[in-house]
Amino acid sequence: MTWREIQKDFPILNQRIGEHRLAYLDNAASSQVPQQVVDRLEEYLTREHSNVHRGVHALSQRATESFDQAREKVASFLNAPSSAQCIFTRGTTEGINLVAHGFGRKFLGKGDTIVVSALEHHANIVPWQMLGEERGVSLRVIPMNDRGELLLEELPDLLDDSVKLVCVNHVSNALGTINDVARVVELAHGRDIPVLIDGAQAVPHMKVDVQELGADFYAFSSHKMCGPTGVGVLYAKKKWLDRMNPFLGGGDMILSVTWEGTTFNEAPHKFEAGTPPIMAAIGLGAAIDYLEGIGLDAIGAREAELLAQATERILEVDGVRLYGTAEEKAGVLSFDVEGVHPHDIGTILDSQGVAIRAGHHCAQPVMNRLGIPATARASFAFYNDEEDIDQLIDGVRLVKEIFG
Ligand code: ALA
Repeated sequence: MTWREIQKDFPILNQRIGEHRLAYLDNAASSQVPQQVVDRLEEYLTREHSNVHRGVHALSQRATESFDQAREKVASFLNAPSSAQCIFTRGTTEGINLVAHGFGRKFLGKGDTIVVSALEHHANIVPWQMLGEERGVSLRVIPMNDRGELLLEELPDLLDDSVKLVCVNHVSNALGTINDVARVVELAHGRDIPVLIDGAQAVPHMKVDVQELGADFYAFSSHKMCGPTGVGVLYAKKKWLDRMNPFLGGGDMILSVTWEGTTFNEAPHKFEAGTPPIMAAIGLGAAIDYLEGIGLDAIGAREAELLAQATERILEVDGVRLYGTAEEKAGVLSFDVEGVHPHDIGTILDSQGVAIRAGHHCAQPVMNRLGIPATARASFAFYNDEEDIDQLIDGVRLVKEIFG
């Protein structure tokens, strides 16, 4: 298959925005869904739709089988030791909140510390601040340099006996930095401290092996990896799942309920109260099949090529400043144009059919560290091409022209 043929799997790309061809460069916010996943969703809705783990009837059995298969696909995608360690959530944010609730509230208390990094998305900051306010837990931050690289040499000094958890993203959504999470795990585990990794921006672009990484918790979302919205995954080590509190109470997460009390089911059910996102999970399974069919290594290499081309070309435009110039980067190009607010860049690019994100990218501490309010962010997927880059660069030149 050529990349040109692969593009045809995404009918949404083949449309015009006003007079212009669509150049979809907002993949770090949400990626697009290939026809193969759409077909699987249609098959589910027209042949299988029913509730899972409840009915004895044929449709419920079909839905349950497909849903359970999706969990097996997730486990194999992450190389998790067991699918029971893969909890379906609504997305990365919910996965992290599940850990804040189930692990944080159970094991952390006054005087304890959580270490996070300077590159975190709000989803990996706010739940810890909320826990901190409630329980007297404080946060400590791994700093970064001007290129957006974490200063991991400073991490050992941050890890004293008060630290009970280290939380770090695998890839920064705002700048694209690929963090050396294996090193973070090594340093933290050297002091018996568990590690949570926000993998939302990593799993669509590289092969992730949770056993090799040794992470205690790894969270990601389906909608950034060619699957539907509304579902994500939290992988966790069994020793934590066995000991953690459930997040939500309700059906499916129990073994028995009497007026005297409730006994909880085992993972994954213990953490999946209520009807799960059945259709979305099955769609995620199909997205995994699709990405693995192309190969994560080939996808990563293609995106690196697109990023290198776009970086070189955008720097030729006078007044463009790049944010995030780490040595190890995924396909994120965060930039601004001197004297122009990133929202204006986003609006002008949209008028040319180019979809990017402008703003603080839910990473205000990153923006504060760089001394800017926002950036314009183009983010690449393997189905982008050189024409998308041409259109982006032409749009940025137009911004320059309009703002003189
Ligand atoms: N976290 C997503 C982004 O970076 C929404 O755009």
